[in-house]
Amino acid sequence: MKTPTIETERLLLRPLVFEDCYEAFERWTSDPDVARYMRYNAHKSVEETKEWLSTVDEESDTAYDFAICVKAEGNYLCGSCGVYFSKRSNVWNVGYNLAKDHWRQGYGTEVMTALVNFLKNDLKVTAIEGMFANENVVSGHVMKKCGFETVGQIEDYKFDGVTKHDCELLRINVKGEKKKFKLSNGIEIEPIGYGTYLAEEGSIKKAVNAGYRYFDTASFYKNEEMIGKELKDSGLKREDLFIASKIWPTEFGYKEAFEAFERSINKLQTDYLDLYLLHWPREKGDSQWKSHLCQTWKAVCELYNAGKIKAIGVSNFLPHHMKVLEENFEILPMVNQLELHIGYMQNYAVDYCRERNIHIQAWSPLGRGRIKENPFIVKMAEKYMVTPEKLMLRFLNQQDISIIPKSNNEERMKANLDIYDFTIDEFDMSLLLSLPQLGFSDEHPDL
Ligand SMILES: NC(=O)c1ccc[n+]([C@@H]2O[C@H](COP(=O)([O-])OP(=O)(O)OC[C@H]3O[C@@H](n4cnc5c(N)ncnc54)[C@H](OP(=O)(O)O)[C@@H]3O)[C@@H](O)[C@H]2O)c1
Repeated sequence: MKTPTIETERLLLRPLVFEDCYEAFERWTSDPDVARYMRYNAHKSVEETKEWLSTVDEESDTAYDFAICVKAEGNYLCGSCGVYFSKRSNVWNVGYNLAKDHWRQGYGTEVMTALVNFLKNDLKVTAIEGMFANENVVSGHVMKKCGFETVGQIEDYKFDGVTKHDCELLRINVKGEKKKFKLSNGIEIEPIGYGTYLAEEGSIKKAVNAGYRYFDTASFYKNEEMIGKELKDSGLKREDLFIASKIWPTEFGYKEAFEAFERSINKLQTDYLDLYLLHWPREKGDSQWKSHLCQTWKAVCELYNAGKIKAIGVSNFLPHHMKVLEENFEILPMVNQLELHIGYMQNYAVDYCRERNIHIQAWSPLGRGRIKENPFIVKMAEKYMVTPEKLMLRFLNQQDISIIPKSNNEERMKANLDIYDFTIDEFDMSLLLSLPQLGFSDEHPDL
């Protein structure tokens, strides 16, 4: 992208060019007070300024350098500013400098605001970094006014390559918005639920304390009784909870499905479910799986029509399983819960469901611990200053996929709900979505 011209209330930011060298030298590059916090020393001759400006690349995609001009003074050149992609942190950085006779007029804030907006709106950047020397309080004040927050300290940083400064490191992270997802029948579901497979006794109480209201269980998990009891003990009203359970393929069949549902709701101490899923499309080796699937779905649809279940869906269904339901029923699943995480995104199944307005939910959103040490994920998490787990959950959530991470630890339960204070940018989403396969559980509906 070519460096653009940006107009603010009082200033014009235009591409900085080699021909600016004489004015730049006279007004700020030769001034030691200005250069003190810059990446160059005060220039001793215009030749040094020329050398500095000869490095400006107007067509660069990783650095944009602007001249700062005051409109009311006939576009008087009073400083320079820029944004550049830092190899150190893998994040875009901002900086500016102004001629001394233009200090204290609020131009710094006007420039910084324009640069932040340029990064956010034009370059679609979601993490911006900046730094100032602790003694340069004005610069720190300007950055904080523009939305930067302190994230760390750097000792002995040399802006000019010589003088050491203790610096504050700042960030702007574009935040996300926590929103419920709407199913095809209008029912709203939380974007983050609590997954209960292998959840220990007492974990439901902890999850309620941490803020979870959505609980994902299954007859197969053998914990519906525990969940029912702990939810009852929580004192929360039934209508404030979202309870999802699943029928296991050995329970498939028309009459059998009613019985399985009854067993689940009795154990869960409830008279209805918010969501009921067919856990897998078939029992392995079942030669009549299509007919068993249809008998089961028929019963589940009847329970749905009777108001015993608010929404119905499936899990681990690939398009060829989904087609069996499509060919035989009017009511299609509202949810498909699939193994989904960085490195295993099942695009074919996900796209197929999306085309039919079937909500996608991710099981093992953390890859059950199998991918957290992958160097690519670790590096990307460092870039956004988050844990690999937080990156994994936000990655799914940004694709409108609901998630049901499981933890037995209350701090980690809370952390898994707190994923909205940063946003993975489009570029990094594309990188993450294009990784080779990682961390597959080896659980497949047909194999
Ligand atoms: N439909 C299906 O076929 C199917 C299959 C599998 C699972 N599921 C559902 O999906 C839920 C989640 O999947 P999952 O349990 O397989 O795996 P997961 O949620 O991807 O990972 C759980 C593992 O990650 C750890 N963990 C959780 N939060 C963490 C954090 N913030 N930092 C570090 N480690 C963290 C947990 O350990 P700690 O407990 O020690 O924190 C646990 O070992 C299940 O509980 C279940 O409800 C459905």
